Amino acid sequence: MGTILVTGAKGQLGSDLVAALCQHYGAASVLESGRAALHRAYHCDAVPQRDYRFYEVLDVMDRQRLQDLIEKYQIDAIYHLAGVLSAKGEQQPDRCWNVNVNGLYNVLETARIYHLKLFFPSSIAVFGPHTPKLDTPQITIEDPSTMYGITKVTGELLCHYYAHRYGVDVRSLRLPGIISYSIPPGGGTTDFAVEIFYAALKDRHYTCFVRPETRLPMMYMPDAVRAVLELMQADEAAIKIRSSYNITAVSFSAAELVSEIQRYLPDFVCDYAPDFRQAIADSWVSEVDDSKARADWGWRPEYDLPAIVEDMLKQLSRRLDIPLKNRNR
Ligand code: SER
Repeated sequence: MGTILVTGAKGQLGSDLVAALCQHYGAASVLESGRAALHRAYHCDAVPQRDYRFYEVLDVMDRQRLQDLIEKYQIDAIYHLAGVLSAKGEQQPDRCWNVNVNGLYNVLETARIYHLKLFFPSSIAVFGPHTPKLDTPQITIEDPSTMYGITKVTGELLCHYYAHRYGVDVRSLRLPGIISYSIPPGGGTTDFAVEIFYAALKDRHYTCFVRPETRLPMMYMPDAVRAVLELMQADEAAIKIRSSYNITAVSFSAAELVSEIQRYLPDFVCDYAPDFRQAIADSWVSEVDDSKARADWGWRPEYDLPAIVEDMLKQLSRRLDIPLKNRNR
């Protein structure tokens, strides 16, 4: 086996996925990359021996540098996580298009030339106001109202094209909002579902930027990481969809999340001050039909809302060193 390259490795998904890839394939087989230089050795919980030698600066807009790294490290698979998320994408639509579409195009061209396996994260942001909100089918209306969603639809079409025209083994998931504790997310619309845990523990108060009834598909990071690994390990013949698979775990409203947190922190208070992200959330769907992913490569989520909240509070209280007094139980 050659080396795996992860782009955007220091982001929310990358941080946990890299740890899992290191555990599965060996730390020396995983090369992390990102736009920023690392100035010192860094610590990784899952692989404590890991240091800056496994990291390279890479802007995915730089196709030559990407291909130099592919040759230097004998890369045979790319997990292409570099991207600008939905809220940031509305503030910087030009950059969002460039990074998400032109960056992916560079990666796909590189995968074609060097015969690389590729993972591309798509998103529930491909859906739009005319998409059915419940049981959203695999093949449905995709009329996104954000630049981020437009780049993800374009990305899915490019992946499908490269798979069918050139035989590139590209695999993709339409990820929902991801909840995790290793690294805070940045620039997304679903970020409220992570920020709320930090605020609940630190301040017992959170001002949520979407309304209480806002209901979106979500997933806990361990499920998301396992989904990516299982998708990439599945037999090539099992992968029937090359644009991107619908995938989901749980759907809940902001108010339901607040209530679940209040079971552990009864004095936690949440106010609501919807901002421009409300319109983005409103344009997305509430519950996705992921039966194709279940049928083709055996997808099954494990974490429901109570399990997510219990584990998030336990893990974060440890990390932030804020004791979680369970007065209710
Ligand atoms: N979590 C992402 C966002 O909110 C959706 O893919 O932008």
